[in-house]
Amino acid sequence: MKILIHPTSEGAVKAAALQIADLLAARPEAVLGLATGGTMEPVYAALIDLVAEGQCRGDRFTSFNLDEYVGLSADHPQSYHHYMRRHLFDALGVPAAQTHLPAGDAPDLAAEAQRYEARIAAAGGIDLQLLGIGANGHIGFNEPSSSLASRTRVKTLTRSTVEANRRFFAEGEAVPVHALTMGIGTVMDARHILLLATGAGKARAVAGMAEGPVSAACPASILQMHPSVVLVCDRAAAADLRMTDYYETVHPDGAERTGEPA
Ligand code: F6R
Repeated sequence: MKILIHPTSEGAVKAAALQIADLLAARPEAVLGLATGGTMEPVYAALIDLVAEGQCRGDRFTSFNLDEYVGLSADHPQSYHHYMRRHLFDALGVPAAQTHLPAGDAPDLAAEAQRYEARIAAAGGIDLQLLGIGANGHIGFNEPSSSLASRTRVKTLTRSTVEANRRFFAEGEAVPVHALTMGIGTVMDARHILLLATGAGKARAVAGMAEGPVSAACPASILQMHPSVVLVCDRAAAADLRMTDYYETVHPDGAERTGEPA
């Protein structure tokens, strides 16, 4: 795992956006796995800027999002369909047929989950999966105790995740308690993984992910078994890591290359 610790969250966000832009510059038709949540909003804004500056094209990729709330239609303002249009797809002008999210309002959610897996496979699999991390170590909405081999399915959200998501909903509005999410096995099939974590609230999860035992108690820890993972974080999110000296020796201030092997 490559661990890049940036002095600031702005630096970490920019570095994550640049990694996506580098891939799209090399392969505009790459298949991206995308995430939502507060961490990703500035990443998508930075990526839109990079496309506007001509660093890469932003209208040829195919994308598959990690998850959608069960019960929310694609036009619900708090749905992840809506989030993706608002924060990325509309600004890039990416054709809707190239973007995919699971349908949280499908009448048969098990069939929808299978259909989603089949679509990812038909697209040739995911080249780069972008991930955030929950304070409890979840990736996608694979909460602690999720099978480390799971595929796309409905998961019940933990109380702490529901509370964390409440900030995106209006006061008094019901916050969904179920999500249709790619499984951990689905995420692990991606050829490359980029996990971004910013802020002190993620410090414990980041330490569990990178240095803890591989365990369903911290679902992100399975990423230790993936051959191509980059963790980009800021100093606040890195605060509980034990081997920071080493990571900063290899990649000072989150720099990609120092002339030493990673
Ligand atoms: C959402 C997703 C989640 C979030 C995580 C962190 O698509 O994949 O795993 O990445 O809940 O959310 P924020 O960034 O809001 O802290």
